Amino acid sequence: MAITAVLGAQWGDEGKGKIVDYLATDSDMVIRFQGGDNAGHTVINEYGEFRLHLIPSGIFNPDTSCLIGTGVVVNPISLVNEMNSLAGAHVGLDRLMVADRAHLVMPYHVALDRAEESFRKSKIGTTMRGIGPAYADKVGRFGIQVFDSLDQDYFAERVRVNVERVNLILSELYGAEALSADDVLDQVWPALKAVRPHVVDCYAEVRKAMGRGDRILLEGQLGAMRDLDWGAYPYVTSSNPIAGGASVGAGIPPALITRVVGVVKAYSTCVGEGPMPTELNDEMGERLRRVGGEYGATTGRPRRCGWFDAVAVRYSSGLSGFTDIAVTKLDVMGGIERLKMATAYRVNTRDGEVIRDTPPPPALMGHVTPIYEEHEGWCSDISNVRSSADLPAPAMAYLRRIEELCGARIGLVSVGPRREQTFSAH
Ligand code: GDP
Ligand code: IMO
Ligand code: MG
Repeated sequence: MAITAVLGAQWGDEGKGKIVDYLATDSDMVIRFQGGDNAGHTVINEYGEFRLHLIPSGIFNPDTSCLIGTGVVVNPISLVNEMNSLAGAHVGLDRLMVADRAHLVMPYHVALDRAEESFRKSKIGTTMRGIGPAYADKVGRFGIQVFDSLDQDYFAERVRVNVERVNLILSELYGAEALSADDVLDQVWPALKAVRPHVVDCYAEVRKAMGRGDRILLEGQLGAMRDLDWGAYPYVTSSNPIAGGASVGAGIPPALITRVVGVVKAYSTCVGEGPMPTELNDEMGERLRRVGGEYGATTGRPRRCGWFDAVAVRYSSGLSGFTDIAVTKLDVMGGIERLKMATAYRVNTRDGEVIRDTPPPPALMGHVTPIYEEHEGWCSDISNVRSSADLPAPAMAYLRRIEELCGARIGLVSVGPRREQTFSAH
């Protein structure tokens, strides 16, 4: 039995979907362990091009079962849309499972997300998928679990009580339009019925898989810099994308997760608000966005782009204990004469104190200046390279420096969005 977590090491969109799709060909089960349909995991393979929001990126491998784990918040409408689009592309869904203890994202969570975001003076720039409000209900013990939808009357009663409460918040606090419980039920019930055949007991399924000695992948959403506890709060999501979150969300004892792969983009991107020390608001930032196709897979928003930030990745590695990293989008760096990497931050408000290992507390994170080192670039197109021996020497040197600065060995290198554009670094 081998259990591997695949985690975002930056601000999300590192290429987790692509790496999970690649690793799933050697896995028996993939479990998404946190987040919801705020995720946009792009997979390009022989079935076509997909942006997965809830369904684990292992779904294309016919021998791999895919479990939406207990730690995920599930919007049933969005899940059914995704199931339909996969079925339309002839991707089998009989191996798809949804944890009965996962919480539901309801239309009123989406309405609350919208109202809360417009109320905030300092915006977070959420994906508006109702993720924060759904996790808030879970923590506040108002949430509805997938299991609760198996009995229609009980479910309808829970929805009515919740809508009554949410309506007070929406109308009295935010001056927003109240919702009708009947409308909410009409919207979600057909979707819940379609999801029902996939509902399982997550604990039992995972135990069965472990008993068989299955190879299990734990697929993270977003990245450590947006972790609820360790990111630049409040510019975070409402769950834990780090390795500890994988254990909780999938119901797997921490000591059994023996491999932790950090997915690391060769530069930095971020969608939404909040500090991003290496952001480039210039032609170079524009170039990275254009060549890297950096537009949100869920919202279509242009991603903020910048140089590689070793402080952030070293911190992520410290939080999750990366046993190895997968460096993606190295091809995008081709053709840039001089490449920069941030190795430390100078904290402007603390007499220029230099920080190397730990991003400062969130309130200070917006007041740092990155300290860069420069590297020689390469001009050849590396998207057809399939072995590290064929990489231009400066590209290899760039990878080795990432390895050194982040204190984690590079396992995989990705030089294009397609599954086959991936190779081992050693
Ligand atoms: P995720 O959320 O971490 O799964 O990442 P996204 O799918 O949101 O964003 C990654 C984007 O980069 C997608 O458009 C991928 O198709 C693309 N991608 C992944 N790996 C590579 C790579 O090595 N090179 C290039 N050029 N694109 C890549
Ligand atoms: P994947 O899994 C990039 C960002 C939002 C916002 C913050 C909180 O594809 O990497 P939320 O809707 O979660 O309350 O928004 O987090 N965000 C993402 N950014 N990729 C994602 O997912 C994201 N999911 C949320 O932009 O700043
Ligand atoms: Mg994404």
